[in-house]
Amino acid sequence: MIEAKNIVKRYGNLEVLRGVSVSIADGEVVSIVGPSGAGKTTLLHIMGTLDGADGGSVLYDGVDVSRMKDSELAHFRNRNIGFVFQFHQLLPEFTMLENVAMPALIGGMKRAEAYDRARELLEFMGLGDRLNHKPAQLSGGECQRAAVARALVNKPKVILADEPSGSLDTHNKTELHKLFFELRDKFKQTFVIVTHDESLASQADRTLRMRDGIIEEDVRK
Ligand SMILES: Nc1ncnc2c1ncn2[C@@H]1O[C@H](COP(=O)(O)OP(=O)(O)OP(=O)(O)O)[C@@H](O)[C@H]1O
Ligand SMILES: [Mg+2]
Repeated sequence: MIEAKNIVKRYGNLEVLRGVSVSIADGEVVSIVGPSGAGKTTLLHIMGTLDGADGGSVLYDGVDVSRMKDSELAHFRNRNIGFVFQFHQLLPEFTMLENVAMPALIGGMKRAEAYDRARELLEFMGLGDRLNHKPAQLSGGECQRAAVARALVNKPKVILADEPSGSLDTHNKTELHKLFFELRDKFKQTFVIVTHDESLASQADRTLRMRDGIIEEDVRK
């Protein structure tokens, strides 16, 4: 379980998160929606330990990550959190296989094992015939599926996604959304997904609606 407790975040005089509390159960797909500037990305980054809060705490299975040192945190993040952003952010000079294996190699997994796992995931994503291609040789939808494979390589506790289908066309959007629910059903993968896509939001187990730095609604399907 992941818990954010009374999170406050300020930029200068602007309080962008005004005491946000939420807990995410294992195996849940939670969507976060709300108007631009509501604080969705800020909350996701704080839950993902990419950014610190000015108040409150974030706990993973009861462990307070706000107290960890930077070195500890980097290791914790590598092991426990997978990220998917709007643009795939694959490294252009590396192959798909290398890109997907990278977080595993950084985490100290043996080379052969990391590549086997990366290959298996890319095959699952229907990209088994693209292992040695570079990102520029793939479509946007294919790159985004590879980004999901990369996020999964260390079997993270949670995948945090920020508008993951925001740059995709309708067909690729639908495919990516299907993939999330398939991963939840098959592997009990937990997801927190910030999205402007109402159809994705409505498929989620829960939808958090944010406005002006608070969660104004938490609706379970
Ligand atoms: N580094 C920063 N410095 C100053 N203000 C910031 C910074 N990052 C975000 N903000 C402000 O915090 C508020 C919340 O931003 P955030 O990116 O979390 O919104 P969002 O809900 O993700 O919006 P969008 O849907 O447009 O992505 C906004 O008013 C934004 O301008
Ligand atoms: Mg945002």
